[in-house]
Amino acid sequence: MSFWSRRKPIDLQSSEDDGPPLARTLSWPHLVALGVGAIVGTGILTLIGVGAGRAGPAVMISFALAGLVCACAALAYAELATMMPASGGAYTYSYSVLGEGIAWIVGWSLILEYSLVVSAVAVGWSGYATGFLAGLGLDLPTTLSAGPHVAGGLLNLPAVFIIAVVTGLLLLGTRESATLNFGLVVIKIAALIAFVILALPSFDPGNFRPFMPYGFGAPFVQQGVMAAAAIIFFAFYGFDAIATAAEETKRPERDLAVGILGSMVVCTALYLLVAAAAIGARPFATFAESPEPLALILRDLGQGLAAQWIAAAAVIALPTVLLAFLFGQSRIFLVMARDGLLPRSLSRVSARGVPVVVTVFTAVVTAALAGVLRLDELASLANAGTLAAFTAVGVCLVVLRRREPGRPRLFRAPAYLLVGIVCVVGCITFFLSLRLSTQLYFLLWNGLGLIAYLLYGARRSRLALARRM
Ligand code: ALA
Repeated sequence: MSFWSRRKPIDLQSSEDDGPPLARTLSWPHLVALGVGAIVGTGILTLIGVGAGRAGPAVMISFALAGLVCACAALAYAELATMMPASGGAYTYSYSVLGEGIAWIVGWSLILEYSLVVSAVAVGWSGYATGFLAGLGLDLPTTLSAGPHVAGGLLNLPAVFIIAVVTGLLLLGTRESATLNFGLVVIKIAALIAFVILALPSFDPGNFRPFMPYGFGAPFVQQGVMAAAAIIFFAFYGFDAIATAAEETKRPERDLAVGILGSMVVCTALYLLVAAAAIGARPFATFAESPEPLALILRDLGQGLAAQWIAAAAVIALPTVLLAFLFGQSRIFLVMARDGLLPRSLSRVSARGVPVVVTVFTAVVTAALAGVLRLDELASLANAGTLAAFTAVGVCLVVLRRREPGRPRLFRAPAYLLVGIVCVVGCITFFLSLRLSTQLYFLLWNGLGLIAYLLYGARRSRLALARRM
């Protein structure tokens, strides 16, 4: 077997131990909270505007399509996560099912995803924070509240600030962070429900006409329902962050399936309501470009105070997304380093069970990107990484069912072939609907990754060393 296709035995995925183990402190309510905490964020709060700008009112269809593909990916995740309850998610499953080479590409894509989600959400946070402060009469100068892509902008300081705060929380330890996360998730959901209740009385069916002003779209077309779905997809993922916490759950088989599927159901229902309420309340063009669309809509409806409250809720609760993705990022690094694909010095965890070096390194890089780049660019590239990982997960689901039908499965995805096909075809179509520049950056990132793999991981991987002994 070549180095590219060597596979890590499935049974090794959960029993392997190296250095101080991560503490098992989490149970399913923590995971649903971690899931909803990671899913509901800048996607629904801000990218809803970008999506509406690309598809018009038909962004509702984009939401439904992105939700469908993500639901299939979530089913595949739930089955695989309960079979291989090790931190690492899609990377871990790919390593056991598709081989080291594909696992490397998936892991490297996840690093891109997790990092850029952190940057994108920090930029989204900054939009609401800046609006909130302006509502209090404190106008931040554009130089320090936006990157150079905005006229007069230099550095998005609020985005850098919030990454620093969340990093500090994570360094205090998982347990404390997860518990705090719980309370913040409640605030976030309450804010979205409040938005729906306040916006629905102004519902005007006329805002839905014409319904599909930019058409359905096709690969490489930058407008239309598919182009919007490719960006709105951002709003739906995050449940994969739960799988990266597998080693820290008390009863992985039950906690993971409930955590992943439960959080997905809650979020999809909420999004469709928010999207319908937003478009029904105001013509989409009025909020498409806004850095804080939901607050803007409420202000336009004469609900200035409520807009301030929604902004405050976003400011307080959006960091849960940052928390989950920074957490997930450090775990991906850690697992890849433990497998020998990245330098092992990265996998060291502190006495409190926190991988300090990786967490701080990630924070510095993501803060630098958040300080200067555009939200839609960051989110699109994050989506590219996620789509690659989800494609692999869909393939893993089907391949493993065929290859090892008798292996015990604590959770079985229904209609697995259909689920796998919808997941894979949907992800590839979304990828092709991203901007060409995003696709190229993604290929460049993975080209660099492959060089790193051939120079380092292919020779130093734990599996390679074990064979030589
Ligand atoms: N789904 C997450 C968000 O929308 C990444 O912020």
